[in-house]
Amino acid sequence: MISIQNVKKVYASLKGKVTAVDDVSIDINAGEIFGVIGYSGAGKSTLIRMLNGLEIPTEGSVTVADKQVSRIKGGELRKARQEISMIFQHFNLLWSRTVRENIAFPLEIAGIPKAQRLKRVNELIKLVGLEGREDAYPSQLSGGQKQRVGIARALANNPKVLLCDEATSALDPQTTDSILDLLVDINKRLGLTIVLITHEMHVIRKICHRVAVMEDGKVVETGRVLEVFKNPQQQITKRFVSQVTEPEETKETIEHLLERYPQGTVIQLGFVGESAEQPLITNLIRNFEVTVNILQGKISQTQNGSYGTLFVHIDGEEPEVSKAIAYIKSQQVGVEVIKNGE
Ligand SMILES: Nc1ncnc2c1ncn2[C@@H]1O[C@H](COP(=O)(O)OP(=O)(O)OP(=O)(O)O)[C@@H](O)[C@H]1O
Ligand SMILES: [Mg+2]
Repeated sequence: MISIQNVKKVYASLKGKVTAVDDVSIDINAGEIFGVIGYSGAGKSTLIRMLNGLEIPTEGSVTVADKQVSRIKGGELRKARQEISMIFQHFNLLWSRTVRENIAFPLEIAGIPKAQRLKRVNELIKLVGLEGREDAYPSQLSGGQKQRVGIARALANNPKVLLCDEATSALDPQTTDSILDLLVDINKRLGLTIVLITHEMHVIRKICHRVAVMEDGKVVETGRVLEVFKNPQQQITKRFVSQVTEPEETKETIEHLLERYPQGTVIQLGFVGESAEQPLITNLIRNFEVTVNILQGKISQTQNGSYGTLFVHIDGEEPEVSKAIAYIKSQQVGVEVIKNGE
């Protein structure tokens, strides 16, 4: 659906040339939710703006839905843009227009007759869950509702691709989750391809199928979200992954737990994918003469499976404890012994 080939973007600034995007190649499949994560200045916005022709690459090519966006201009580009919609961090709504009028705007531009427009707007209002707010002005809406208007407006002309530039960065965590749920729903229902950029790994974890990590204009790592969580390669990726897998208090909590359980063995289990659904603990207690206490844990879902960490305390006689640990290892579960029993 989207093919980015050896794309480079160089800006001329007062301080000299800035390479915002540096030899990036990415292929994105139809129906995929693809995330790009990076810190401020990594080149994310520049990259996404080349997908709808808002920026022209200095080198390389960008093809979206069989159109070479990096080449076409004028009317042809405007037509291509109807298939490539975008939503923004600050919503970019028209403040003097109501919800209904904001959503109708792209339909007016496309020359859709009034009766058809009204029908389509009503459909969209239902799709994004804004019933009852049709006649409100943007200033009367919450942040989440404003982004729903942004999404409805972006979907008005049945695009094939939705681009999201930090679409949830101005929202609180709960509202962020509700907007992300809506994006997943739209992706599934309409088969829409979604490209989103963010600096929050939570967003990637929750809705993306694949992710690319950007640093200094380059893509330094890319893969399926679950694989990247399981096995991050680059330092920067490890840092992003730890945003969601390791709550900051973990280390202290574990030290505290070790004090509370001076005897026995404490282990950290890492679950990925299928193994996270297994009744591992039940099997341990049934099959080995050990006692097992779950000390702390967190299992999270991604679009391609679950992963998580569990800290457990195991007590019993040797060799039962060793056998129990060997059993856990045989179940494709990562095991790290935090403290050996005595
Ligand atoms: N129009 C421009 N002219 C000159 N330099 C630019 C321009 N747009 C972006 N840059 C530079 O290109 C680099 C990448 O910027 P970009 O906005 O793409 O990063 P970003 O990853 O989206 O960052 P943020 O998370 O802060 O939005 C930065 O160094 C920025 O200063
Ligand atoms: Mg940006």
